[in-house]
Amino acid sequence: MKRFVVVANRLPVDAGPGGLVSALQPITRSSGGAWVGWTGNPDERPEPFEHEGVHIHPVELSADDIDRYYEGQSNSTIWPLFHDGVEPSVHHRPWRVAYQAVNMRFAEAAAAVAAEGATVWVHDYQLMLVPGMLRELRPDLRIGFFLHIPFPPVELFMQLPRRTDFVRGLLGADLVGFQQPLAAQNFLRLTTQLLGLRPEGERVEYEGRTVTARAFPISIDVSEIDELAADPEVQEEARRLRKDLGGDRRLLLLGVDRLDYTKGIDQRIEAYGELLADGTVSNEEAVLVQVATPSRMRVAQYQQLRERVEREVGRINGEFGDVGRAPLHYLFQSRSRAELVALYLAADIMLVTPLRDGMNLVAKEYVAARRDEGGALVLSEFTGAASELSDAFLVNPYDVDDLKRGINAAIAASPDDLAARMRKMRETVRANDVGRWAKQFLEALG
Ligand code: ADP
Ligand code: G6P
Repeated sequence: MKRFVVVANRLPVDAGPGGLVSALQPITRSSGGAWVGWTGNPDERPEPFEHEGVHIHPVELSADDIDRYYEGQSNSTIWPLFHDGVEPSVHHRPWRVAYQAVNMRFAEAAAAVAAEGATVWVHDYQLMLVPGMLRELRPDLRIGFFLHIPFPPVELFMQLPRRTDFVRGLLGADLVGFQQPLAAQNFLRLTTQLLGLRPEGERVEYEGRTVTARAFPISIDVSEIDELAADPEVQEEARRLRKDLGGDRRLLLLGVDRLDYTKGIDQRIEAYGELLADGTVSNEEAVLVQVATPSRMRVAQYQQLRERVEREVGRINGEFGDVGRAPLHYLFQSRSRAELVALYLAADIMLVTPLRDGMNLVAKEYVAARRDEGGALVLSEFTGAASELSDAFLVNPYDVDDLKRGINAAIAASPDDLAARMRKMRETVRANDVGRWAKQFLEALG
């Protein structure tokens, strides 16, 4: 039985890219806690085991569960709706039923490992019903919930079938955390609209308890990135990358994302294509490297995105490339942390241009890696990170002209200007490490 339990869809074991696991693994390790989650494979439930100092409690998902709960309700209904509806949200009754059943399985697993009076921290949009279910099973627990993705405006949330169930589910927690203050306000407004509750400030009374909704902007493990960036081998790799890409005379632009339609990858590539077409940049002077990690590839909208991106990459390289010199390098691959940091060190301009993103840790990782105070960050206004990194070149990714303006401003900026911006952003990121984020959340949870 454990005093501290993390409940998340994925276990921190071979988890692949994604903000949640990168953020939580260090904390759970240092608190000797347990982690309840899915291995990522169908029909698999190994016995509980230890992994890098964390007690792992696997929850089994069948192929049908993966279809309905994970790819369906989580990633085809909730994910697009909560990201401003940038792709249409799809609704199916069997998905909803499976989501509920799987959430109950997670709640039961958490109830079985948590000691009397333990703290249980539930994560993200896949598990929004768990706090309410867990409260029923174990009223003795302190329950926290953190949503890693945006919480939508009230009008959009209202489209969700059985929307009240989700609000009740979240109200099962003592503390509901969001990336942005506006998200917490949206949630509290919904408690009034759907349940007739009367929030006061950030608190609301529900079934005889007080629930607090507050923003806790997440961050990264700064020392991990800092150590990699200081590693001579990583620095050597960064120099090799630059050399292979055409040396110091060629400006290196970089994008690093899961291949997700919320990331604005196609708009970014379109903007780069236009810069090449109107002669603002040339294949001799600049190169764009886009690392797009495979993600949720069984979901149709992700397959369609892949096709769009690959078509556009081919068009641009065909039109503006030369033998032995391509203007755009597209890597549909996962890369190690060390390789990512080498890319961050090599890049003159980092392009982080999501249409909507709860936070975006890549932006913070880039800043943390630039111990040399070099490099420029072009950042979408529609990321959580933009609230903290206001010294980036902020852009509206829906407006290709504005994207181009932001990239051009980064190209034209003086080294002094860039260093001053990077210094301020580094102060912000270094002062708000993920360890501090977790500490603040857990202190508020009490
Ligand atoms: P999201 O959570 O939507 O994937 P974030 O930017 O918040 O977006 O977090 C992504 C995390 O995944 C970052 O820590 C980033 O370093 C990591 N990541 C992204 N792409 C890759 C990749 N190709 N290989 C390894 N890690 C990656
Ligand atoms: C985002 C979500 C996480 C999710 C990750 C990777 O960061 O907030 O909950 O784990 O993407 O997505 P996946 O579907 O592969 O778990």
